[in-house]
Amino acid sequence: MQSLIEKAEVLVEALPYMRRFFGKTVVIKYGGHAMTEDKLRASFAVDVVLLKFIGLKPVIVHGGGPQIASTLARVGKESTFVEGLRVTDDETMDVVEMVLGGKVNREIVESIQRGGGRAVGLTGSDGALLRVRRKTVNGQDIGRVGELVQVDSRVIDSVSESGFVPVVAPIGVDDDGLTYNVNADEAAGGLAAALGAEKLMLLTDVEGVLDADGQLLSQITSKDAQKYVAEGVITAGMIPKVGCCMRALGEGVGRAHIVDGRVLHALLLEIFTDDAGVGTLFVP
Ligand SMILES: Nc1ncnc2c1ncn2[C@@H]1O[C@H](COP(=O)(O)OP(=O)(O)OP(=O)(O)O)[C@@H](O)[C@H]1O
Ligand SMILES: [Mg+2]
Repeated sequence: MQSLIEKAEVLVEALPYMRRFFGKTVVIKYGGHAMTEDKLRASFAVDVVLLKFIGLKPVIVHGGGPQIASTLARVGKESTFVEGLRVTDDETMDVVEMVLGGKVNREIVESIQRGGGRAVGLTGSDGALLRVRRKTVNGQDIGRVGELVQVDSRVIDSVSESGFVPVVAPIGVDDDGLTYNVNADEAAGGLAAALGAEKLMLLTDVEGVLDADGQLLSQITSKDAQKYVAEGVITAGMIPKVGCCMRALGEGVGRAHIVDGRVLHALLLEIFTDDAGVGTLFVP
């Protein structure tokens, strides 16, 4: 009996958070590195389903860097990177679309459905959700890499309102209908801003933003983030992450966090607790 009462108490403790987030949109970037283990994938899916059933509107945007890399390696195609961005020729773009839209996206949809929810997979070209233009780096053409110019979130609204969890692959489309590879963090940040999300959560494969000594920063300001990038403390895949969190806050998103996706039930821990114990919170 006592253990049943304790279970009831756990639910009651969650009530203030349920009230606070009821009806609110939470955009979750599911990193390619955080989705490699079966047990974690299942725990992620169950968390998403739970959030949906208690009345939040979770929107998933996924990455897939490692999955793209392994498929490219299998077909014997090598990639070059310019400032962390994959130079994407037409052949590489075919692989990107197949892997992100055809494989990774489907796996996430199916895992959410195995967890008891209903999900709908989309790419940013569905409903012209993610409008992009060709990105250049210091004037250099890097192929089919897109820079977000506009988000038309109506397709997300209609999927969410109908009781489904939207799962978005970061592929954008330009004015001529040509598709582009988009950084998933950038896509998630843009979507969060367009949807007026309460929260943006980027799940990844580290504890959060680490300082020069490798210590977790539980909070970080815009100013410090810029300083760490300039000093080379924040590098590689962490650069677009901090950039998109800062931009999202500037565009009206309530809170932005980087969360350790290797922790079981990372999403629930973040939403149902007050302390920023599971990652880095960005403060304007
Ligand atoms: N200061 C820092 N603190 C934490 N991680 C950092 C820092 N600087 C660089 N990184 C790197 O950023 C990586 C996270 O970004 P990465 O792009 O690799 O993963 P992801 O975005 O979760 O996955 P994907 O790009 O496939 O969606 C970490 O694994 C780490 O190696
Ligand atoms: Mg990344």
